[in-house]
Amino acid sequence: MTFKEEILQGIPSQLPTPKSYDTTVNHAPKRKDILSKEEKKLAIRNALRYFPEEFHAELGPEFANELKEYGRIYMHRFRPDYKFYARNINEYPHQSVHAGAIMVMIQNNLDHTVAQHPHELITYGGNGAVFQNWAQYLLTMQYLATMTDLQTLHIYSGHPMGLFPSNKDAPRVIVTNGMMIPNYSKQDDWEKFNALGVTQYGQMTAGSYMYIGPQGIVHGTTITLLNGGRMIAKDGESLAGKVFVSAGLGGMSGAQPKAGNIAGCISVIAEVNPKATTTRHSQGWIDEVTNDLDELVARVNKAKADKEVVSIAYQGNVVEVWEKFDEANVFVELGSDQTSLHNPWAGGYYPVGYSYGESNEMMVNDPEKFKKEVKATLVKHADAINKHTVKGTYFFDYGNAFLLEASRAGADIMAENGIDFKYPSYVQDIMGPMCFDYGFGPFRWVCMSGDPKDLALTDQLACDVLEELMKESPVEIQQQMADNIQWIKGAQENKLVVGSQARILYADAEGRTKIALAFNRAVEDGRLSAPVVLGRDHHDVSGTDSPFRETANIYDGSQFTADMAIHNVIGDSFRGASWVSIHNGGGVGWGEVINGGFGLVLDGTADANRKLKNMLFYDVNNGIGRRSWARNSGAEFAIKREMERSPSLKVTMPNHASDDLIESLF
Ligand SMILES: NC(=O)c1ccc[n+]([C@@H]2O[C@H](COP(=O)([O-])OP(=O)(O)OC[C@H]3O[C@@H](n4cnc5c(N)ncnc54)[C@H](O)[C@@H]3O)[C@@H](O)[C@H]2O)c1
Repeated sequence: MTFKEEILQGIPSQLPTPKSYDTTVNHAPKRKDILSKEEKKLAIRNALRYFPEEFHAELGPEFANELKEYGRIYMHRFRPDYKFYARNINEYPHQSVHAGAIMVMIQNNLDHTVAQHPHELITYGGNGAVFQNWAQYLLTMQYLATMTDLQTLHIYSGHPMGLFPSNKDAPRVIVTNGMMIPNYSKQDDWEKFNALGVTQYGQMTAGSYMYIGPQGIVHGTTITLLNGGRMIAKDGESLAGKVFVSAGLGGMSGAQPKAGNIAGCISVIAEVNPKATTTRHSQGWIDEVTNDLDELVARVNKAKADKEVVSIAYQGNVVEVWEKFDEANVFVELGSDQTSLHNPWAGGYYPVGYSYGESNEMMVNDPEKFKKEVKATLVKHADAINKHTVKGTYFFDYGNAFLLEASRAGADIMAENGIDFKYPSYVQDIMGPMCFDYGFGPFRWVCMSGDPKDLALTDQLACDVLEELMKESPVEIQQQMADNIQWIKGAQENKLVVGSQARILYADAEGRTKIALAFNRAVEDGRLSAPVVLGRDHHDVSGTDSPFRETANIYDGSQFTADMAIHNVIGDSFRGASWVSIHNGGGVGWGEVINGGFGLVLDGTADANRKLKNMLFYDVNNGIGRRSWARNSGAEFAIKREMERSPSLKVTMPNHASDDLIESLF
């Protein structure tokens, strides 16, 4: 059977032979055994509804066994044998170009070189699912292959509810992931309802088909370091010769040394897991490795003296680095942490004084002791950082719950008011006021031809647009423009593509729109050989309400509401998005964030021009309007500027009460 025929058949009419467990692939951990006996029966009944009754006698025991072995029913037997990767769009059977593009994006999220646990349909973050099981994948691909531009496919947490008649301007796909009645959004609720097969954790770009590999995090970390560097620069000097200390060379954290090199500093990144260090070293993402603290000090001092751009891994615990650098008087300009502290008791953070193997053993055989040691390490970790910040180090939390867990462990990490932490999160000080408030966020695109030549042309077109815009940009946004021009110029050389031919950069509404118009023109006149998909990370100006991350620099109390993300997804859906998605969870955890995104296919038509102008404008300015209402000065500046340019935009502006008046009232 050809690839196209396999896609078109959906769930096969003959049972495929069972699959053996492939040990060469990275698998998801066994999930919690959380269902009661009655609930397990319900989970099997739920799984069997995808198949005709004649298969049930064979599949029933098999699914019961999967539930027992893995804690979930993945339906492994139905995983297709063809290779998963972002093919050229024309290799997919389709009647709608939009639907064809979505198939490319889905297959990229399940590509073995991209996805973390491809056989369990997990793209990243340990539980970021594209689908819950293989039946959902097969049905969705069949629907996408056969649907027209007069239908919309509705996907409930991976389950394709079906095709409903709509119209050509409507999204072709509507995705929801993990949307719960609010009282059912605790960690164990995810375990239970996911095991029942009725919901999934979509992370941000996993369940929305918008993941582009590690490039996104490299760019975000580069922008954070560059802007962090500017905050501490006394005379506008660069990061040359300055030291950045952090921990973690894992999935996302592994981007830190590469970003440090692009930003032009000396990065020292500690990692306890030798395998993670070796992997990043062999990939060229870290330049040098040492496990000797004296050698590390000497190497860093030399790099400082020579203003060398270099990244050095310390094979060991990060607490040792902070303590040693204090003793040896190595001044650290920038500090952060990217251990997995959203998961402190199960391998996200390792105690000092034990080898990696000893720690893993303790975690399983004596979990109480492990917990005690982790807490003691967090206290030491914070103490060591405090010694550096007194000397002038700028330390920030990088969205990994370091400050939260250190405070829970009783570390000296609270500010004098006892409410705030001593140190800011990166969104509070850097990303929020410097980028999001001005509308700058992680815009991305993917070439549906799969051809690197197309990507090179889009890079050039985007660079031309930004250089042109920069001539007229107000001083407030010049720096962001310059950073992104530098990024796009170095993108080819930095070899950032893993999986689909994709690119990310930060742009505001005007930049995103002009770049999209240039791409659509190039598709129309044939300079680009196939359509281009536009999208973005959910980690952006408008799409995500998350009080400890994306909306951490909102201080009017509304950071605990999720109206912005909901308006965004509804607003994008009728302004031209090809698909939209809204998720509970992502990054900071289930119940902690509502985040949404979109995909928009540029097929070279006048319709695409109309849609992109209307949708991208709203997709960015919705969030700026909300940030401006929260009295964020950058956002007030940006939305006023937009209103001057766009007469039909009328945003309610805040009046500012004087501090003296408010203080006099109580
Ligand atoms: N701010 C953002 O935009 C952003 C983006 C991605 C991830 N994150 C957060 O960053 C964290 C890391 O993500 P990841 O995907 O890299 O996770 P990961 O688990 O793959 O990597 C973390 C690494 O830290 C190492 N580590 C743990 N304790 C250590 C210690 N005491 N000393 C030295 N090394 C230690 C682990 O061995 C592991 O390799 C997560 O909490 C994630 O949510 C934030």
